[in-house]
Amino acid sequence: MMKLAEQGRAAEGSVLPSAADKPVYVNQMFARIAPTYDLMNRLMTGGQDRRWRELLLELCDLPVRGRLLDVGTGTGDIAAAARRRLPYAEVVGVDFTYEMMAMGKNQPTRRALPFIQGDTLALPFADDSFDAVVSGFLLRNVVDRVAVLAEHARVTKPGGKVVCLETTPPENSLLGPLFQLYFFYLVPLLGGLVSGDAEAYRYLPHSTVAFPRPAELRHVMEQAGLRNVVFQELMFGSVAIHVGTKI
Ligand SMILES: C[S@@+](CC[C@H](N)C(=O)[O-])C[C@H]1O[C@@H](n2cnc3c(N)ncnc32)[C@H](O)[C@@H]1O
Repeated sequence: MMKLAEQGRAAEGSVLPSAADKPVYVNQMFARIAPTYDLMNRLMTGGQDRRWRELLLELCDLPVRGRLLDVGTGTGDIAAAARRRLPYAEVVGVDFTYEMMAMGKNQPTRRALPFIQGDTLALPFADDSFDAVVSGFLLRNVVDRVAVLAEHARVTKPGGKVVCLETTPPENSLLGPLFQLYFFYLVPLLGGLVSGDAEAYRYLPHSTVAFPRPAELRHVMEQAGLRNVVFQELMFGSVAIHVGTKI
């Protein structure tokens, strides 16, 4: 078996698209897997993804009647959890993949959510609009992370939070081989069976290995102008939540 870093390097030329092709590749991939996206998340994480989304929302410190923006909302999993948790808050979901949001709209509990089609690099909102801006599993899919996070900061009110949940390459060497086996072999197999699209579930581990470690991502958030950036690692370091404050 290759080491994680080697897997990542091997991935550069094979599974991962070039920077120029990435937005279209990502958009088409999520459009294809939209019908089984939520089910695959539950299966891959043993249901833990729900707990991570709840923790992300807890870390937002949203006022009771605050405004929350969920960028890369997909089927609206985070936005729907926010509506359950904070019934008086105003929650908006943005994504550039119509098919993902359409799957969310099909679910009775998410029908009332405002889903807006838009790009994370050019959000259709004025400066200082939201008390918190969150994203779940978005940053792996963009090319210029500093620009994306700066855009999230732009629409956040001063004192508000920018919070990101993302998979991260685990450092723990004992878990490394297990992580590789699960992520590089079992997840694509399961993804192929459930969604009929093994390629999309090969992209997931390769893009994760090519993603910065949590301490590096903290630096990226600081480069985007956020301050007091802290992070929590979850699931043996394979997932992390970062929180930054707009000054
Ligand atoms: C892995 S899904 C995450 C969905 C949801 N946040 C969740 O927690 O399950 C990533 C989402 O980001 C969206 N996305 C990727 N690049 C984007 C961009 N440039 N602008 C807006 N949305 C984007 C994709 O369409 C997809 O729905």
